Amino acid sequence: MTTQEITREILQLKEKNKAVILAHTYQDGHIQDIADIVGDSLMLSKAAKEVDCKTIVFCGVRFMAETAKILSPKKTVLLPAIDALCPMAKMVTAEDIRVYREMNPKKKIVCYVNSTTEVKAECDVCITSANAVEVINRLPEKDILIVPDENLGHYIKQSLPHKNIDLWPGFCITHKRVLEKDILQVKAIHPNAPILVHPECSYSVLKHADYVGSTSQIIHYVDQHDYDKYIIGTEMGVIHSLKKNHPDKAFYLLSTGLICSNMKKTGLKDVYHALKYQQHVIEVDEELRQRAYGSIDKMFSICE
Ligand code: 13P
Ligand code: SF4
Repeated sequence: MTTQEITREILQLKEKNKAVILAHTYQDGHIQDIADIVGDSLMLSKAAKEVDCKTIVFCGVRFMAETAKILSPKKTVLLPAIDALCPMAKMVTAEDIRVYREMNPKKKIVCYVNSTTEVKAECDVCITSANAVEVINRLPEKDILIVPDENLGHYIKQSLPHKNIDLWPGFCITHKRVLEKDILQVKAIHPNAPILVHPECSYSVLKHADYVGSTSQIIHYVDQHDYDKYIIGTEMGVIHSLKKNHPDKAFYLLSTGLICSNMKKTGLKDVYHALKYQQHVIEVDEELRQRAYGSIDKMFSICE
């Protein structure tokens, strides 16, 4: 089938199944173009909760589809590429959290949404890169552990010096590839272009950036400013949305390493098969779901 034929089939099956396609901004351009909603983790989890449909086809990685299921247990949630996993989500386990809590009973434990359902079920509150600083700032507790992303944790720690924050040694294999020398080099080549960076990059990179934000916040920054070129320090998929919104502007990737192979596992054929054969259904044990829901709901109650 040609891209055009497969797209037509997807649209028909979507209608027939009363399905909605959610796609993360790191997805391939073809996937973003057929999606009903494209956004960052926060936007997509809100959409999963609110959207009126029977089935959600989640084009992203597994923890995102599980988050959608946790928030919308009555909907069928499909992950087209079953092997699309976020390696960072596996860098802390539920057992790690239980052991840490026993040793540090007074600490509030905060999990980045890039974590497993089992970890979310053990934590007190969830965060995404878009609301992390605000959620943690609003927590009455001073003593906090953030898991699993050390870079995001370090960025929050720098932003909230009045909190006593412990970090966990997890990382994003994609954003970790950006080095301080990359940003210094790009600054020398494009001295007038603002550099917009995701907080999963290391602090040695963030300290030279003009703006730090989630993928949607980076897109919003460009919407609000009038430069003719920008340097983008997050996964390359974001450039597709940026170019679509601003065809007259130039966007340069901060590093050629900014490609997440897991986010790129979803192709149009996978979305077609997902809708045609109802695959791959995300299931979450109900008792576990309710506990994981607690940490996500707490996030929404602090900062909707
Ligand atoms: P966002 O919260 O910006 O969507 O980022 C998710 C992610 O996986 C970043 O690598
Ligand atoms: Fe995970 Fe990094 Fe890929 Fe995001 S970009 S899904 S954190 S590996």
